This record gives sequence, C-alpha cells and structure tokens, in this order.
Amino acid sequence: MGFLRLVGTFVFFLVLVGSSFSAEVCINCHRVKTPGIVKDWQTSEHAVNDVTCSVCHGSKHRSPRNAHLARLPDERVCGQCHEEQFEQFSRGKHSLGWKAMMALPVTPLEPNELIEGKRGCGGCHNMGIKTDEDLKGLRVQGYRYEVNSCDECHTRHSFSEKEALNPQACQKCHMGYDHPQWEMWSSSKHGSRWMAKKMGDLPEAAQAPTCQDCHMPDGDHENRTAWGFLGVRLPLPEDPQWAKDRVTILKALGVLDPETGKPTEILEAVKALRLARLTEEEWQKEKERMVKTCSRCHSEGYVRQQLEMGDRMLKEADRLMAEAIEIVAGLYRDGILKKPEGYPFAYPNLLFFMRTGGGDISELSYIEQVLCQMFMKHRMRTYQAFFHINPDYAYWYGWEMMVKDLGEIRHLAEVMRKEARRSGDGQEGNGP
Ligand code: HEC
Ligand code: HEC
Ligand code: HEC
Ligand code: HEC
Ligand code: HEC
Ligand code: HEC
Ligand code: HEC
Ligand code: HEC
Repeated sequence: MGFLRLVGTFVFFLVLVGSSFSAEVCINCHRVKTPGIVKDWQTSEHAVNDVTCSVCHGSKHRSPRNAHLARLPDERVCGQCHEEQFEQFSRGKHSLGWKAMMALPVTPLEPNELIEGKRGCGGCHNMGIKTDEDLKGLRVQGYRYEVNSCDECHTRHSFSEKEALNPQACQKCHMGYDHPQWEMWSSSKHGSRWMAKKMGDLPEAAQAPTCQDCHMPDGDHENRTAWGFLGVRLPLPEDPQWAKDRVTILKALGVLDPETGKPTEILEAVKALRLARLTEEEWQKEKERMVKTCSRCHSEGYVRQQLEMGDRMLKEADRLMAEAIEIVAGLYRDGILKKPEGYPFAYPNLLFFMRTGGGDISELSYIEQVLCQMFMKHRMRTYQAFFHINPDYAYWYGWEMMVKDLGEIRHLAEVMRKEARRSGDGQEGNGP
C-alpha cells in the first residue's frame, strides 16, 4: 500500500514536471508571439488548475515551423474533464447545428466562403459536433476549419462561466432575419428589466429572466423547445382547418409529396436532425419543462394562458401561409410556373430561400421569393415574438408583414395569369 502510494506520487510528480515543462515552453514563446492568447488564458479557471496549453493542444508542435502539429481540440476534448456538460450538449439541438446546415437543399449552392469561412451560414452553424467524415467533406481544401462548439459561449481562452451566463453570449447567432430572439428579448419587458438591473436601477435580487434562465435552467446544456425553429409538429392538430394548413406547409417543406400526400425521404432527415417533435409526448415534455421554468416567477395559470396564445398565433399564421402556398401551387398546376431543373416537385419549396441563378437551379421567380420571405422572415417573427413577449415584432414585423406578403402574392399571381393568357402560355391560355 505504502509502496503503491509512493509510485503513485512519483508518477504524478513526473506528469506534473512534464506538463509544466511544456507549459513553460508554450507560454514563453506564445507570450511573445500571441500575447493576447496567453493573457486571456491567465484569466481562466484553467490557468489556476494547471490546465495548460499542451493539455488541450498536445505537445508535438514546439516551433513556428510545425504549428500544423498542434491539435485543435473539439468538444470531446473538453468532455474528458466536463463529461456532464458534454453529455447534455450532445443530447440537445446545439450538437446538430452543423449537420442541419449541411442537410439543407440550398447549402450546396451557396458560396464556399459563406459555409466554411466563419461568416454566413457556417458562422453560426459551426455550433455542432462534426465527425471526421464531416470534416473530410469540407469544400475548401488547405484551410483549417475551427471545430469547437463549447467556445461559442465560453469563448477561448478565458473559457468563463460568467461570460456564458450573459445573454449576449447568444446574440451573435440568435439575431436577425429569421430568428431575431436577441432583438425580441432585449426590447421586451423581460430584457429591459435585465438591462435596468445591470445599470444598477433595480436591486440585484430583482427578477429578470435571461435566455439562459429559460433555455438552460439549472445550467442544463441540453437545449430544445417544443415547437422548434420550423414551428411544425406531429401529430396533426384536431382543428380541421389547421390540420389542412399544416399539410400544405409540410408539402412546401418537401416533407410530404404534393401529389400523393405521402412522406418523402426528407422526413427521415427531419427525424435524424430532430427538426420537429414527432409525437405528442415529446412536445408536451418540452412544454411542461417551460411551464415549470416560467412558474418560478408567474402563476401557473397565467403561464399556460400565455403559451397557449402562442400556439394559437401559430395557427393564425399558418392560415395565411397555407393560402399563399396554394396560390403559388396553382400557378405550377396550370403550367404558368414551370418546375425548374433540380427542383424536387412542381410545387413551391420554402427551403430554397431567395436563390436566384447559378447552380443547377434556374432563377427562382419573384413570386416564390416573396413566398420564401413570408415563411422564413415574417411567419418566424409572428410566433417567435409571441413566445418572447415582444409587441412590435409580433405585430408590425411579423403578422402585418405576412398580410402584406399575401396581398402581394395575390396581385402577382393575377398579373402572371393575365400575362399567360395574353401570350398563350399555360393551360388557361391554351383553351379554345
Ligand atoms: C518557439 C515558439 C513557439 C513555441 C515553443 C510554441 N509555439 Fe505554438 N505557435 C507559434 C507560432 C509563431 C504560431 C503561429 C504559426 C503560424 O500561424 O504561422 C503558433 C501556433 C500555435 C497554434 C495554432 C495552430 C493553428 O493551426 O493555427 C497552437 C494551438 C499553438 N501554437 C499551441 C502551442 C502549444 C500547446 C505549445 C507548447 C506545446 C506551443 N504552441 C509552443 C510559436 C510557438
Ligand atoms: C484536463 C481537464 C480539463 C479540460 C481538458 C478542460 N477543462 Fe475546463 N475546467 C477544468 C477544471 C479543473 C476547471 C475548474 C474547476 C471546475 O469549474 O470544474 C475547469 C473549469 C471550466 C469552466 C468553468 C469556468 C468558470 O468560470 O468557473 C468552463 C466553462 C470550462 N472549464 C470549459 C472548458 C472547455 C470549453 C474546454 C474545452 C475547450 C475545457 N474546459 C477543457 C478542467 C478541464
Ligand atoms: C446569424 C446566425 C445564422 C446564420 C447566418 C444562419 N443560421 Fe441557420 N440557424 C441559426 C439559429 C440560431 C437557428 C435556430 C433558430 C431557432 O430555433 O429559432 C438556425 C436554424 C437553422 C435550421 C433549422 C434547424 C432546426 O433544427 O430546426 C437550418 C436547417 C438552418 N438554420 C440552416 C441554415 C443555412 C443553410 C444557412 C445559410 C443559408 C443558415 N442557417 C444561416 C443561426 C444562423
Ligand atoms: C481548455 C483547452 C485549451 C487550453 C488550455 C488552451 N487552448 Fe488554445 N484553443 C482551444 C480551442 C478550443 C481552440 C479553438 C479550436 C478550434 O475550434 O479550431 C484553441 C485555439 C488556439 C489557437 C488558434 C486560434 C487563434 O485564435 O489563433 C492558438 C494559437 C491557441 N489556441 C494557443 C493556445 C495557447 C498558447 C495556450 C496556452 C496559453 C492555449 N491555447 C491553451 C483550447 C485551449
Ligand atoms: C421568459 C423565458 C424566455 C426567455 C427569457 C427567452 N426565451 Fe426563447 N423561448 C421561450 C419560449 C416560451 C419559447 C417557445 C417554446 C415552445 O416552443 O413552446 C422559446 C423559443 C425559443 C427558440 C425556438 C424558436 C422560437 O423562437 O420560438 C429559440 C431559438 C430561443 N427561444 C432562443 C432564445 C434566446 C437566444 C433568448 C435570449 C436572447 C431567449 N430565447 C429568451 C422562452 C424564453
Ligand atoms: C449555448 C451556450 C453554451 C454552450 C455551447 C456551452 N456552454 Fe457551458 N455553460 C453555459 C452557461 C450559460 C453556463 C452557466 C450555467 C449556470 O450556472 O446556470 C455554463 C457552465 C459551464 C460549466 C461550469 C459548470 C459549473 O457548474 O461550474 C462548464 C464546466 C461548462 N459550461 C462546460 C461546457 C462544455 C464542455 C461545453 C461544450 C460541450 C459547453 N460548456 C458549451 C453555456 C454554454
Ligand atoms: C454559434 C452560434 C450559436 C450560439 C452562440 C448560440 N446558439 Fe442556440 N442555436 C444555434 C443554432 C445553429 C441552432 C439550431 C441548431 C439545430 O437545431 O440544428 C440553435 C438552436 C437553439 C435552440 C433550440 C431551438 C429548437 O429548435 O428547439 C435554443 C433553445 C437555443 N439555440 C438557445 C441558445 C441560447 C440560450 C444561447 C446562449 C446561451 C445560444 N443558443 C447560443 C446557434 C447558436
Ligand atoms: C426570473 C423570473 C421570470 C421568469 C422565469 C419569467 N418571467 Fe415573465 N416577467 C417577470 C417579471 C418580473 C415581469 C414584469 C412584470 C410586469 O410586467 O410588471 C414579467 C413580465 C411578463 C409578461 C408581461 C410583459 C409585459 O410587457 O407587460 C408576460 C406576458 C410574461 N412575463 C410571461 C412569461 C412567460 C410566458 C414566461 C416563461 C416562458 C416568463 N414570463 C418567465 C419575471 C419572469
């Protein structure tokens, strides 16, 4: 026993000497070459706990000439010491960000720089676990791609818990066109209270929920919501009109075949990437988790009403959306819009965004661009703002814009039909 302990102590001593040796080598040079990185690391809990440069990067690289030998640690390396957070993260939706981006039909058509250059889609969808297979598939050879997701909230090299607790840690990605949660939250009552607290105008103990309070309760790194991004789910709702409208939307997402109404292979991707809750239980579980969170500060009845109104708003938005899709689908049916090459169906598809020209897909017609915008920008805002309690986004940037889109689509369709009649194009124009 005594002997074993002696050996143990000796081995520990060797490891310590070994790691502090490379620590010194790395730090001495990097203090000069990249002083900012060393300073940042020195502020971290890692510095205090002897988690030195070589623990994460290995010690194969020791001179500027062989910098390519430095290992770039992915989430699994962090997981060696933070198993709980890694496991939670892996079960949640953030771990799928990269794969979800890659699965979209529009992605292969986008410029490489906007996928792999840490700007555009890839700037936010770097969030996510990438397998070796994924990295082999990178399109730009010779560039080093950043692999780690943990440093999206605990940015390197301070890797701070406090920084990740600030809602601004979410801002870079959860903002803008189709998911302006930052804008909605920060100008809501919840957000403005948080700001007032930060400025010292409210006591520290005053309640003001942040993104993390609602989406990472008790520090849980598994994140998921009931409705998710697309705002569709199964089973279909009982309300017959809403059920019909959701089927129309699912067709326009390519999940259901527009002719047969049967699921397409895209449903498999939806399942694999957990893009939608596919059972009632799954949806209820997330909803109840949220009810519990809100009920820390509000009465449960109040909370349920608020969330149910959010669901109803989605139903209203789906009515407008389905009507718009059907108008464009009618143009395909009557041969006024033609199925572009590389397009799955003679039916509008919401996930081709505002693609114009290039690739194997010919130009998306203007009426379809308006339709995509109605879905991606305005329907998203309508219901997301309801859940994030933002009056202006819910109405003026959301609902009102959907109404305007629908008006424009109706008008454009009329003009296109008139045009087709005049030029003898399409079935309507081919009549006797
Ligand atoms: C004698 C100086 C020197 C020493 C010693 C040194 N580095 Fe470096 N390291 C550099 C320089 C310079 C670069 C930048 C190379 C470039 O971009 O051309 C670099 C780059 C890196 C990179 C980035 C690699 C990449 O792909 O961008 C990491 C990570 C790194 N060093 C970690 C370490 C670690 C860990 C150690 C100790 C085991 C260490 N360095 C020792 C000088 C040094
Ligand atoms: C060799 C083990 C080890 C590795 C690898 C490691 N950490 Fe840590 N980390 C620690 C220790 C020890 C602490 C301090 C005690 C604690 O909070 O658990 C710590 C603390 C933290 C904290 C809390 C900091 C704070 O402000 O309280 C975060 C966040 C963190 N690490 C993130 C990471 C990330 C991200 C990675 C991967 C890039 C990583 N760690 C890799 C050991 C490690
Ligand atoms: C500013 C950051 C950002 C950019 C740029 C961005 N995304 Fe996203 N994307 C997100 C966020 C955040 C979500 C989750 C939003 C939500 O749930 O409200 C998301 C959601 C998605 C989803 C749905 C995932 C799901 O599970 O529902 C797909 C697919 C997707 N994005 C693909 C893309 C593609 C392709 C591009 C480029 C054409 C792109 N994104 C550009 C941040 C971004
Ligand atoms: C807790 C783990 C951890 C420790 C400790 C650590 N790094 Fe890093 N480092 C990372 C991660 C994660 C990345 C980003 C990897 C990626 O996504 O490609 C990174 C990236 C880098 C880069 C390349 C990116 C850039 O901004 O140039 C350099 C250089 C670097 N580290 C140097 C160091 C040095 C020097 C030390 C010690 C003072 C150190 N690292 C300590 C985790 C760590
Ligand atoms: C008061 C609690 C609360 C706060 C604070 C909050 N959210 Fe949410 N969030 C919700 C609710 C409720 C939903 C909808 C849940 C559902 O699907 O039933 C939601 C949904 C989401 C979604 C899925 C798409 C959507 O918008 O419906 C994302 C992504 C999201 N929130 C991110 C954020 C970010 C980022 C912040 C901070 C800028 C934030 N949330 C602040 C309660 C909150
Ligand atoms: C979406 C942002 C986000 C991402 C991504 C993220 N974290 Fe965190 N992390 C947080 C927040 C917020 C906290 C503080 C939670 C709390 O205390 O309520 C935290 C806390 C931590 C802590 C401190 C826990 C403690 O109790 O001391 C560690 C360690 C940690 N994270 C590791 C990781 C690792 C490892 C990864 C990658 C697998 C990761 N985090 C990814 C936001 C994030
Ligand atoms: C680097 C970009 C990035 C950062 C930073 C980030 N997220 Fe995300 N988030 C994403 C992407 C991308 C997705 C969509 C992933 C998917 O579903 O495939 C997402 C999805 C989500 C979802 C799941 C919505 C759903 O579909 O159910 C929630 C909730 C969420 N994020 C909350 C947060 C919170 C809270 C923070 C800050 C603590 C944060 N995120 C920080 C990029 C980011
Ligand atoms: C950490 C505490 C906390 C949590 C968690 C929280 N709230 Fe609040 N909420 C507040 C406070 C404080 C106010 C301000 C009360 C007022 O309006 O006078 C508020 C206000 C509101 C308002 C009125 C907004 C306005 O503009 O007047 C609604 C609606 C609301 N919350 C719904 C929710 C919902 C739904 C959830 C969960 C998704 C939630 N809250 C979670 C503390 C919280």
